Amino acid sequence: MKFSIKSVSPDKQRCACAVVGVFESRKLTPAAELIDQASGGYLSAIIRRGDMHGKSGTSLLLHNVPAIQCERVLLVGLGKQKDFSEKEFTASIRTMVKALKQSGAADATLFLAGLPVSERSLSWKIRQAAAIALESVYCFDQFKSKKQDTPAALRKIVLAVDCSGDLPLAEEALAQGLAIAEGVTLARNLGNLPGNVCTPTYLADTALKLAKAHTIDCKVLERAEMEKLGMHSLLSVAKGSHQPPKLIVLNYRGAKAGKNSKPLVLVGKGITFDSGGISLKPGEGMDEMKFDMCGAASVLGTLKAVAQMKLPINLTVIVPTTENMPGGSASKPGDIVSSMSGQTIEILNTDAEGRLILCDALTYAERFEPETVIDVATLTGACVIALGHVATGLFANDDDLANELLSAGDESLDRAWRMPLWDDYQDLLKSNFADMANIGGRAAGSVSAACFLSRFTKRFKWAHLDIAGTAWKSGADKGATGRPVTLLTHFLLKRAGKIN
Ligand code: BES
Ligand code: MN
Ligand code: ZN
Repeated sequence: MKFSIKSVSPDKQRCACAVVGVFESRKLTPAAELIDQASGGYLSAIIRRGDMHGKSGTSLLLHNVPAIQCERVLLVGLGKQKDFSEKEFTASIRTMVKALKQSGAADATLFLAGLPVSERSLSWKIRQAAAIALESVYCFDQFKSKKQDTPAALRKIVLAVDCSGDLPLAEEALAQGLAIAEGVTLARNLGNLPGNVCTPTYLADTALKLAKAHTIDCKVLERAEMEKLGMHSLLSVAKGSHQPPKLIVLNYRGAKAGKNSKPLVLVGKGITFDSGGISLKPGEGMDEMKFDMCGAASVLGTLKAVAQMKLPINLTVIVPTTENMPGGSASKPGDIVSSMSGQTIEILNTDAEGRLILCDALTYAERFEPETVIDVATLTGACVIALGHVATGLFANDDDLANELLSAGDESLDRAWRMPLWDDYQDLLKSNFADMANIGGRAAGSVSAACFLSRFTKRFKWAHLDIAGTAWKSGADKGATGRPVTLLTHFLLKRAGKIN
């Protein structure tokens, strides 16, 4: 789908469909008002008849509106005018795409960018509109023999702005929205792939392709190299699998030499299937453990968005990736391994494997002298219990970093919520036989997992995003969400000074 920006009036535009809003008080938006006037009160007559109430989530498609150049006019309900905020704005974009997909319109011009959304700029609205529209047309049918019956006609969306002075800012915001959407799409595609396709080797190949497309430096460490580095914690997880583990490292260099040259490092958990290992998971819903590489997918997606926008920052992405399988040589409860940091770990539960691969990747991050390290992981079922499917769990050893991530989440509507990381919780990880155990018991499970990671991140500013509840949806809409690509990209856009 193509997007463009245009400064045009709805009564003058020629297109397959003009999209305008109606509030619940039956009040027309300024753009709808213009169409109403040009058409001799056509819209207000329909509204008076009671065919459009302006409720959020509703829409009405009109054909051949008198004196209007567009073949169709789509009225979108916006809800109560005084409550019109981010939520209603994004809902209106989703409603619009849904209605357009059912119509035969090949292109549409959207007149919603002028609406006031509390505290949000025009750029915000353009970025969100593009990203959400693309997110709503996403479809993963790679493995369906029959593709969608009715291929959607919709090919082009024009985002109208009120005056030509807005064009430069709007163009930039559109490019950002499209880049975010591409990153989200990559993350969703990788997440949705089945475990027999998306193996560690597949993730490594994807990274190499991504690197080639954007001339990013990329290397993939094999088992032997990881052994040399002493990554026995990571490797212990791979022991039960026939798939070779990989450590993917990508270095994007966008900052001017000398300026902010210390990189920001993103680390993504890449368990391409988590059976639990010898501490085998129950069978029900185990298919969803193909999503256990969504952290990896999200950092690759974020890198793609950053590279596409050519952001002037240095970004390093590290993906430790392996399957977690039971097998004759798999790790057993009670096994003790030594991590790259030198700290020893007693593996009391082989299903707590995410932290075992992340700890070595985090130690490896030290060599880049990072400005900040952020890891992203579908780490704990406990985080789903704590925060549900709304907010990502955020842990950090630095308050400024935590607040930066929290506001990036709020602003981009890809929210996170901070969880505690006080030393008081560290006792949960006590082991009688090694420096630490890899589990802390049922209570505060997401906190003890973060505490475990914190023992490997003392040398830099660090945040941990537990996306167990937000990376994918279960049930009828089962599928990867692409979160938190939007949060991370927004955060990096702000760091790069592209959003204030
Ligand atoms: N990948 C899972 C976490 C998970 C579970 C994410 C369910 C989303 C839904 C992780 O590797 C895991 O198995 N964690 C265990 C840790 C426990 C053994 C301490 C968990 O959460 O049960
Ligand atoms: Mn597990
Ligand atoms: Zn896992």
